[in-house]
Amino acid sequence: MENAIEVSGVTFAYGEKTILDNISLTIGQGEFVAIIGPNGSGKSTLINIMVGILKPNSGSVRIAWNNIGYLPQRSFAFNQAFPADVKEVVSMGLYAKVGLFRRLKKSDWEKVYDTLKLVDMLDYKDELIGHLSGGQQQRVFIAKALVSDPQILFLDEPTVGVDAKSQQALLDLLEKLNKERGITVVMVTHDVWAITDKVSRIICMGNGHIYPECSLDNMDTRMLSELYGYPVKLESHVHRS
Ligand SMILES: Nc1ncnc2c1ncn2[C@@H]1O[C@H](COP(=O)(O)OP(=O)(O)OP(=O)(O)O)[C@@H](O)[C@H]1O
Ligand SMILES: [Mg+2]
Repeated sequence: MENAIEVSGVTFAYGEKTILDNISLTIGQGEFVAIIGPNGSGKSTLINIMVGILKPNSGSVRIAWNNIGYLPQRSFAFNQAFPADVKEVVSMGLYAKVGLFRRLKKSDWEKVYDTLKLVDMLDYKDELIGHLSGGQQQRVFIAKALVSDPQILFLDEPTVGVDAKSQQALLDLLEKLNKERGITVVMVTHDVWAITDKVSRIICMGNGHIYPECSLDNMDTRMLSELYGYPVKLESHVHRS
């Protein structure tokens, strides 16, 4: 299989409500793709179908490898007393690889620490996850998605709650993983202005459809405003220093 991901004619509904309407797309190996679009347009649903958590009502998904990393959309904060520390949370990302009941080896823990270093959270390895700030937790979850050296990385709004400097560092990290290790990256984001110089392609979703005319080349205020249905100014959001 030459492509990393092939989605063919996927339709998905919650009850009577069609969320994805006959969606087809391919993502090539080594691409860095951003999925954008307004709230409720089906971005997370599409990601969940691509990673196999949801089954489409019709159509199919093919993925070139089975070693994938997935960072779900953040939907809850950890209870302060959640009984796992940072290194344990990241090590959970290895269980698919090593098996739930096998003990981690020294080399596994080294991998955990290397990955924590990559997201600049090694100093917190012994802290309870519930004692970290939201943005710090998010970086730990990114490490968890990365620790098994996935060939495809799916991230659903990875920078929500992450401050501007860390957001830039995270995008730089994803760019590095994509360019240097050839990892295919598929990321849902609303931070359109922050990713235009990083990604190789944008996929624009609205009302369960993909807009083929929406691309990086013609991405401007008018195109984005049409997609989102309200005036979107690209320039006003620039975080870069
Ligand atoms: N478990 C569910 N049961 C019923 N409807 C759902 C469920 N999950 C999502 N939906 C509906 O499916 C639609 C698409 O949701 P989805 O989470 O895919 O959107 P999204 O594009 O990721 O939005 P956001 O930008 O807010 O994350 C929404 O209208 C939502 O209300
Ligand atoms: Mg979503």
